[in-house]
Amino acid sequence: MQQVNIGMIGGGTVGSGVYHHWQQNGALMASRLGVKIAIPRVAVKAIDEPRPYPIPTEVMCTDWKAVVHDPAVQVVIELIGGTGLAREVILTALRLGKPVITANKALIFKHGEELFAAAKANRVNLYYEASVAGGIPIIKTIREALVGNRITHLYGIVNGTCNYILTRMKQEGADFAAVLADAQRLGYAETPPDLDVDGWDAEHKTGILASLAHGFWVNPESIHVEGIRHVSKLDMQFAQQLGYTIKLLGIVKTLAADGRRASAKRIQVSVYPALLPNSHVLASVNGVFNAVFVRGDAVGDTLFYGRGAGKDATASAVLSDIADAALDLAHQTTRIPPFVPHDGKGRVAPLGEVVSRYYVRLSVVDRPGVMAKVTAILGAAKIGIASIIQPEGHEGESVPLILMIHDAPNAAMQRALAKIGKLPVVKAPPVMIRVESFA
Ligand code: HSE
Repeated sequence: MQQVNIGMIGGGTVGSGVYHHWQQNGALMASRLGVKIAIPRVAVKAIDEPRPYPIPTEVMCTDWKAVVHDPAVQVVIELIGGTGLAREVILTALRLGKPVITANKALIFKHGEELFAAAKANRVNLYYEASVAGGIPIIKTIREALVGNRITHLYGIVNGTCNYILTRMKQEGADFAAVLADAQRLGYAETPPDLDVDGWDAEHKTGILASLAHGFWVNPESIHVEGIRHVSKLDMQFAQQLGYTIKLLGIVKTLAADGRRASAKRIQVSVYPALLPNSHVLASVNGVFNAVFVRGDAVGDTLFYGRGAGKDATASAVLSDIADAALDLAHQTTRIPPFVPHDGKGRVAPLGEVVSRYYVRLSVVDRPGVMAKVTAILGAAKIGIASIIQPEGHEGESVPLILMIHDAPNAAMQRALAKIGKLPVVKAPPVMIRVESFA
């Protein structure tokens, strides 16, 4: 049986997971693929660093260049993370004509265009299944299984840390800060937690999925990102009373054509916390789990659920890329290129142009005429109110006022909220969370 030799750069959590699961299932993979896979060389930062699964000392070295340049190494796996050395490793391997596998979402998101161009120029493939949603095979799904669809909607719960925090806030009625501190103590959240709780990790994954689904590389600057720090236990409770759950969503939506430039496709690419109806399947994705909901024009609605991180689930995704790389090498093919610009020109619409529904919580003085002042501003902006609730309960001098708002452009809503926030009867900055109806 033909053998393909892999050189792995990075032998930490994910790297040792890949090595372990290859040891467990490599023979099974060979019998399924008809190609034997070997991992004879692993470059690591330090041979004796602690790792969750052992890697035999004799396959390890600390010189990545020696591994990448080794003529016996036919495929390179980059698992060191970051956007500096990892980029150099990948470009070096591609220029040597070696296919590369990476789990590096930040790198693909920021430098994908350059890396895919280098892969194309060197007539090799760059595989990145593990870069989005860990063990969920979402890249392969969009690239291959749904190739006959136009992807009109994609909603992802793609950050396990945020989903864990929001789930506990909902289930325990706890504050963000308390759950975050506990999640850090338990090792679910990093210290500092910014990459996760401020939405940047979800942005990387959402940007990659948007680019793949829509065929033009999405400029990181064009993505609107909000994290979950401002989601309060009060909003969780009111959302629940109204029949909603709050989740951090990566959203990729095809918008109606812009009348002025009808030929250019307009898409929304955003990351923000949103109220989801409890009846929607994404509302029951809890804890550290990830899920991606994809709507294609042919297939309709689909849902992919699983572990979005961790040494084992991520290793599963890397092993699937190893299989693809081995098959491509064995059969001298690049069956499906990693990323091909397609489908004409598109652009990411600024969020101001995007129409949403909204949950708004105001802290107002409890006095006749307050409601009239608020509704006058919304009315003048042609923004419709779906419902108003003034729940029992006081926050010091003020009372909460909850408004559910009909579809309105984000720019108009922001302008109206700025005016409402300046009313003397409004005692704290308005809280606004978008509502996703999946229509
Ligand atoms: N930190 C990420 C998460 C996992 O919490 O989902 C790695 O992408």
